[in-house]
Amino acid sequence: MAVRFADRMSRLGTETAFEVLVKARALEAQGKDIVHLEVGEPDFETPENVIQAGVDALQSGWTHYGPAGGDAELRQAIATYINSSRNLDYSPDQVVVTPGGKPIMFYLILALLQQGDEAIYPDPGFPIYRSMIDFTGAKAVPIPLREENGFGLDVDELESLVNERTRLLIVNSPANPTGGVLDRAQLERIALIAVEHDLIVMADEIYAELIYDGEHTSIATFPGMAERTVILDGFSKTYAMTGWRLGYGLFPLELVPAMTRLAVNSVSCTSVAVQRAGLEALTGPQDRVSDFREAFRTRRELIVGGLNAIDGVSCVMPKGAFYAFPNITRTGLSSREFADRLLEEYGVAGIAGTSFGDAGEGYIRLSYANSEANLQKAIDRVAAMSSAVMAQVRT
Ligand SMILES: Cc1ncc(COP(=O)(O)O)c(C=O)c1O
Repeated sequence: MAVRFADRMSRLGTETAFEVLVKARALEAQGKDIVHLEVGEPDFETPENVIQAGVDALQSGWTHYGPAGGDAELRQAIATYINSSRNLDYSPDQVVVTPGGKPIMFYLILALLQQGDEAIYPDPGFPIYRSMIDFTGAKAVPIPLREENGFGLDVDELESLVNERTRLLIVNSPANPTGGVLDRAQLERIALIAVEHDLIVMADEIYAELIYDGEHTSIATFPGMAERTVILDGFSKTYAMTGWRLGYGLFPLELVPAMTRLAVNSVSCTSVAVQRAGLEALTGPQDRVSDFREAFRTRRELIVGGLNAIDGVSCVMPKGAFYAFPNITRTGLSSREFADRLLEEYGVAGIAGTSFGDAGEGYIRLSYANSEANLQKAIDRVAAMSSAVMAQVRT
């Protein structure tokens, strides 16, 4: 039988990291040694106290449906954490808990956008933003993030992209895939644009705890912004809990019923035992969070230093998250060719910059959430590939 899909399915994109992972695993099954720098997840185990809280929850009856918007105690803990860490004033009623942070972008974009609307998203940026905007039939308008601006955005250029159809602006700081962080002055100017043009801002702050210089600033802190900002955050990156699937959003109150309704229609609720583990993550000891950050800091220096010593490659020091985004244009290869050859011939799984948008051409993303030994191995292999390619460039 030939299945007829709805038109909207042809507009839905994907996240290449999962495809590269499948390809890398297939090469491993053939006996190849692969260094995995493709998927954006901490290589650490979830802290033991958090695992224990999840086990205890399952054993003590947290096995039934719960409220669609999330467990009351967890919502309170999330509001407390966000308010104290980002100097904000959310109530637990403004928190919606979901299976990972991804559903927050899915629900928000689905609820706000339709044909005729426009939404501005970072390019290169997390691919699901674009995918979801396209899915709704709205126009996805990229704001390029450029290396010469430290992968921050050009605020004048942003303003030139806003028109009367623009409804949503997505900002992501610290950013995937560039590791860029928007500074206070940039955020303030972006906030002024959002207020002036009455935009809703989705602030994806999932890497907020992974900043290596200075402090995270939420765009919601600027005047007039709390009422128009949705903060997306979660447990995946901060607490090494990617597989648990636990995230959340903080919304202007009037958006909450729509978000909860989308949750009822899609997942009913987030796993209640997982939410108990999340409660322990937020309210228990936080020393593992800083251990993770310090380990990432060391690895960041290792990989960026290593990449910059390679002929044909250069890499700016990422300020946050756990990705290096080296420039490979001098090799003469496209991002895709570079990433494919690096995996197939040299056994390093990375991601072509173009998987994050057209402005990612000339770059590849390497996640440094891996051991120092593996990172060194990856650097040596990138160096071997680059020197082979550069030798050809010169002949
Ligand atoms: C920028 C960004 N936002 C959101 C997410 C979603 O994470 P999760 O659904 O695991 O919470 C990711 C994951 O890679 C990400 O990189």
